[in-house]
Amino acid sequence: MPSTTAIYAAWAESYDHTPNATRDADREVMNRLCPRFTGLDLLELGCGTAKNTQGFAQVARSVLGIDISEAMLAIARARELPATVRLELIELGAPWPTADASVDVVTASLVLEHIEELAVVFAEAARVLRPGGWLWTSELHPARQRRGSKARFEDAQGRSHSPECFIHGFADYVAAARASGFQVCEVEEPLEDGLPRLLVMGFRRDPGPSRP
Ligand SMILES: C[S@@+](CC[C@H](N)C(=O)[O-])C[C@H]1O[C@@H](n2cnc3c(N)ncnc32)[C@H](O)[C@@H]1O
Repeated sequence: MPSTTAIYAAWAESYDHTPNATRDADREVMNRLCPRFTGLDLLELGCGTAKNTQGFAQVARSVLGIDISEAMLAIARARELPATVRLELIELGAPWPTADASVDVVTASLVLEHIEELAVVFAEAARVLRPGGWLWTSELHPARQRRGSKARFEDAQGRSHSPECFIHGFADYVAAARASGFQVCEVEEPLEDGLPRLLVMGFRRDPGPSRP
């Protein structure tokens, strides 16, 4: 099976343009959340072509986007992003290139299905978030995954390609979050034809002891 990077290298050029209901649903969710990120330092996991980065950059104080695919990042870099945006090629399983307690928000859109162990992501998010910071995840809903849906694209010859995908149920998110000191604060399951397309969750890092 081709690697995730090989699949996204082939997908990058068409990713933003071909019909993709999951990509579009996630864009709507993130556009809606955007005002909550005003003036904050944000880390975006699996930023890809910067579909969401552009909107974050309009309101956030700084945005660090990380991704494993140079081809997806090349599309992102070709956009006119402001100087407050930094994009780095890095695998989510490696230590993220930012200091402890250095960001207010971490977002992950349509990337965690490619990560086998959620615990690694939540532990690293807990490290880089300031006390009281938020982790937002927006992923293809596990009910759809269990019916066979997954990230998938068709090449110019009409052949279908999928990177390796893992199913994370609601309980898996809650367990990983609690193990790293997050509270589950918000959950959305926007319905489409009677079935949720996305599982959107907002987790808050323990704010620490309250001041006298
Ligand atoms: C479906 S795209 C989503 C991109 C973007 N977040 C969006 O919503 O349009 C998934 C992205 O995750 C990246 N990705 C997959 N596995 C990764 C990993 N282990 N570490 C970092 N990025 C990864 C891919 O390169 C790709 O850009």
